[in-house]
Amino acid sequence: MNSDLEDRGVNPTSNPALDDLIAARLSRRQLLQGGVATAALALLGRPAAGATSPLGFTAVPVSTADAVTVPPGYTSTVLYAWGDPISDGPAFKPDASNTAAEQERQAGMHHDGIHFFPLPAGSTTSTRGLLAVNHEYTDDGLLHVGGMEPWTADKVAKSQASHGVSVVEVAERAGAWTVVRPSSYARRVTARTPITVDGPAAGHPRLRTAADPDGRTVLGTVNNCAHGATPWGTYLTCEENFNGYFVNRGDAIPAAQQRYGITKTGFGYRWHEHDPRFDAVAHPNEPNRFGWVVEIDPYDPARPPVKHTALGRFKHEGAAVTLARDNRVVVYMGDDERFEYIYKFVSRDPFTPGDREKNARLFTEGALYVARFDEAGTGTWIELAHGRHGLDAAAGFTSQADVLIDTRVAADRVGATRMDRPEWIAVHPKTGETYCTLTNNTQRGEDGRPPVDRANPRAKNVFGHIVRWRERGGDAASNTFDWDVFVLAGDRDHPEADRRGTIKGDGFGSPDGLWIDARGVLWIQTDVSTSVLNRGDYARLGNNMMLAADPATGEVKRFLTGPRGCEITGVITTPDGRTMFVNVQHPGETASERSDPAKPTAISAWPDGGAGRPRSATLVIRKTDGGVIAT
Ligand code: FEO
Ligand code: CA
Ligand code: CA
Repeated sequence: MNSDLEDRGVNPTSNPALDDLIAARLSRRQLLQGGVATAALALLGRPAAGATSPLGFTAVPVSTADAVTVPPGYTSTVLYAWGDPISDGPAFKPDASNTAAEQERQAGMHHDGIHFFPLPAGSTTSTRGLLAVNHEYTDDGLLHVGGMEPWTADKVAKSQASHGVSVVEVAERAGAWTVVRPSSYARRVTARTPITVDGPAAGHPRLRTAADPDGRTVLGTVNNCAHGATPWGTYLTCEENFNGYFVNRGDAIPAAQQRYGITKTGFGYRWHEHDPRFDAVAHPNEPNRFGWVVEIDPYDPARPPVKHTALGRFKHEGAAVTLARDNRVVVYMGDDERFEYIYKFVSRDPFTPGDREKNARLFTEGALYVARFDEAGTGTWIELAHGRHGLDAAAGFTSQADVLIDTRVAADRVGATRMDRPEWIAVHPKTGETYCTLTNNTQRGEDGRPPVDRANPRAKNVFGHIVRWRERGGDAASNTFDWDVFVLAGDRDHPEADRRGTIKGDGFGSPDGLWIDARGVLWIQTDVSTSVLNRGDYARLGNNMMLAADPATGEVKRFLTGPRGCEITGVITTPDGRTMFVNVQHPGETASERSDPAKPTAISAWPDGGAGRPRSATLVIRKTDGGVIAT
């Protein structure tokens, strides 16, 4: 999502406790004395002797063109854009006159996280599969004829139908990828789809509403940003800025709503005007039903999605899944707001290959942790368990359900490290090293805000950075880890030394999307806010882009640049690595956040050109010689 929109909140509990400062000083002294931690750090990202660069392509220059550019020897084509039918109809109407009912059977707006699931299930087919695609939010200036004037119940319904997730069948036929139409797998999950709730907070009084007195079925998912995929072939979609859909015009907004950024006005979606459940005064528990990780089985369109409360409630950016040594399932998750936290979930039970029904219950029980990055380069996962670390009735937590519904409040109490906006997390398939983008935080070090620390080392961090860690004992379920900063993003020609960063290669800023392919190439996608794109600190870095990095050496090369006003979001390849899918989100977005319906092409007409409204879309990227991407 546009960084401006995401930036509308800040963890208000931002003054470090004295104990933290003392602990930091002690840790720094230990570091200066040398020892275990320093030695451990040297292990992170160590290149193999004699290794050659895995980045076998010619980097592309920065671009301000209204086009996608890829390296020589590569092609990029549009596969699935906003409004395209998921199956056999209805067709997209370029004047945005499709109805809400039609939109429910078309691609939503603002593509974000994406995953490829081979067909048949369990195979490694690379020519046919299902794409699950998030549709994070809407630009209602573009979505409707006449934009938001007048504002009607039908427009609310269409906006809600444009949110959520698509599942579409795709196949390579005669060398070209297409959406398979019709397909029995094609599915839209929207802001109105019935979704089951499970885990410790399911059925809790704070999740019950007049329409759902059991507190176990929520209508819809919103602001689906990044994602994850499980070893049993399901898709995890993450609810990020859910607060923006609610308004609370009461005299005093409850503290629990304030902590999640509920305001009098919301982000201007105006759903509450025609759908009262988004009025957080009339329906005070409805916000508690959003901010979760949602599991979708792409292979079974009849199976309801599930909101997993065991994974905590915050502005979930993504859910990177890996396995512990004993096959318990580990999920790394960022909470994207300034000074928020990085979390980890470890399932109680192990993954059982082949037992789909048992695996479907793995996210119902487990332990939720939050990360503390210590100055010495070591770190601790602090468990958020009721009755421990002060998470008790005296602190307002009467049960684990309270800890999970108010995850942020719980994390505030246990001394976790306040980060510079944790976005995507990716686990290296060979080394287990885990990388997390910290997109930016212009308030770091300001008066009344947390100072720099070693994991967030720059004041007024306009370019962001990437941190990485390695779990102790090589076990993702470990309670401790070693970490370092992989790269400080920046522009090497920036007049201020602090903003040149530490990149060995092409400049970039505001890293957001992140994924490591089977060869170990780290793919980095950027989301520079429209308000600063090609201006000021970002004057020389062009449109948003995707780069490839070698974790072993830190080499970074720019692979793709996007059209004007876009951000680059999800990325995945087929199992053979020869087809890459990349999402382009909100081409043409203006700094005012909603397009002027009288001038829909003011910034961009990508991908259709001419008078065509800009449309978010999934790209297919291939090498013309049919080889593996980036070789
Ligand atoms: Fe939706 Fe934090 O990006
Ligand atoms: Ca984003
Ligand atoms: Ca993001």
